[in-house]
Order: sequence, then structure tokens, then C-alpha cells
Amino acid sequence: MRDHYTRTAIALHWLIAVLLLGQFAFGLTLEDIPRGTPERAIYVNLHKSSGIVIGLLIVLRIAWRLRHRPPPLPASMRPWQRYAARLSHIALYLCMLALPLSGYLASNFSKYGVKFFNLVHMPPWGPEDKTLYAFFNGTHHVAALLLALFVGLHVLAVAKHMLIDRDGLLWRMWPRRAERGIHPHPDLPLEPR
Ligand code: HEM
Ligand code: HEM
Repeated sequence: MRDHYTRTAIALHWLIAVLLLGQFAFGLTLEDIPRGTPERAIYVNLHKSSGIVIGLLIVLRIAWRLRHRPPPLPASMRPWQRYAARLSHIALYLCMLALPLSGYLASNFSKYGVKFFNLVHMPPWGPEDKTLYAFFNGTHHVAALLLALFVGLHVLAVAKHMLIDRDGLLWRMWPRRAERGIHPHPDLPLEPR
């Protein structure tokens, strides 16, 4: 039985975690840049562009996840703990989708649209609509707060597994070093002698 996530799942988990952390901090610093200034236009467009790239990586990650089952949870986990783990992972995926999507939708109900890395101008496909803009912007704000909350719980849960249950859960999501020759891969049948 596999006890690890696939290499692709592990790479996408950590890449997206680091990028989301940076994007979250970037979003918060946008609040300090005065509205209506040329600097704000530059930084908001950079935030939108990096957000779209992260959004595409998240879609790729979810597509991969739908085609690759995660390894089974440790047998010591109680049914309610398995349920809580599954629910919290779904909540994380929903927040990860809602953030870039709400930001993208808001941009299309403002007159600005997106200047993708200042290279490609993606004009808004929607009308300028203050109510819809406020709705999607509000969703963006709430999704950012919820993501921070669920990531906090996620890290606490992993810490509990590692420090109290001591079931090594973190290693399921940790990059493995290439094994050189000595140990056979556990999935390979052993050669009969
Ligand atoms: C991919 C993950 C993303 C994260 C984690 C993220 C996070 C944030 C955060 C924390 C803020 C500041 C709080 C707030 O006002 O809501 C913010 C603001 C903003 N984000 Fe994002 N964002 C992401 C993607 C996007 C995308 C794809 C777009 C648009 C295409 C976008 C557009 C904006 C805009 C325009 C603001 C400023 C809102 C204002 O101050 O009126 N974001 N973002
Ligand atoms: C923005 C930050 C993060 C996000 C959005 C995130 C998201 C997720 C999601 C959605 C899963 C479920 C994978 C699946 O089965 O489909 C997961 C698994 C996991 N994450 Fe994170 N994660 C983040 C940060 C972290 C950090 C900082 C740690 C380390 C403390 C961590 C450790 C793990 C581990 C060990 C698993 C595997 C859990 C299991 O075996 O069931 N994650 N993460």
C-alpha cells in the first residue's frame, strides 16, 4: 500500500503553499497603497497577474488530485478525525478556488480589467457594475480570511499528528530523496531466489 502522496502532488502542495503565503501578504500590503495613484495600478495589476498564475496552478492541482487517490489515513485515526480531515481539505480547496476566481470576477466588473504582467491587456468582459464588484471583492476578502483560518487549523492538526500521535503524518507530504540502489521500492515484487 502506498504511504506517500505522489511526487507531483507533493511538489504542487508546497509550491502553492509558498505562493499563496506570498500572495496573501502582497494582498494585505495593497491596502497601504493610496487609491488612484500610478503605483497602486502597477502593484494591483501585479497582484492580479500572479493571482491568475496561482489560480491556474490550483486548477492543475485539483485536476491531479481527482485522478490520484491520496494514501490511506493512519489506521489509528478515529472516524470523526477522518471526517474532520476530509472536510478541512475540502474547505482548503474551496478557499483556494474562491480566492483567484472572486478576484478575477471582480476585475471584470470594474473598468480596469487585468493587464497581465503589463504585457497583455485583458479588457473586462463585463459591464462596470459597482454592486457586483463589491460582491466579488467582499467574497475575495472573506475567502482570504477563511483560508488563513483553515491553514492555521491545518498546521495545528499536522503538529498534533507529529508531536502527540507521533504517526509521522508530515512525511506523507514531504519530498523524498532519490533512493540509490540499496533498498528496493516497496511496491516492486521481490525477485524469487
Ligand atoms: C490566488 C490567490 C489570491 C490571494 C491569496 C489573494 C489575496 C488577497 C488579499 C489578502 C487581499 C487584501 C484583502 C482584501 O481586500 O480582500 C487582496 C486584495 C485584492 N486582490 Fe487578491 N488574492 C488572490 C488572487 C487575486 C486575483 C486572481 C485577482 C484578480 C485577477 C485579485 C485581485 C485583488 C484586488 C483588485 C485586490 C484589492 C481589493 C481592494 O483593495 O479593493 N486577487 N487579495
Ligand atoms: C497555504 C498553505 C497550505 C495549503 C493551502 C494546504 C493545503 C492542503 C490540502 C488541500 C491538503 C489535502 C491533500 C489531499 O489529500 O487532497 C493538504 C495536505 C497536507 N498538508 Fe497542507 N497546505 C498548506 C500548508 C501546509 C503546511 C505549512 C504544512 C506543514 C505543517 C502542511 C502539511 C500537510 C500534510 C502533512 C498533508 C497530508 C495530510 C494527509 O496525509 O492527509 N500543509 N494540504
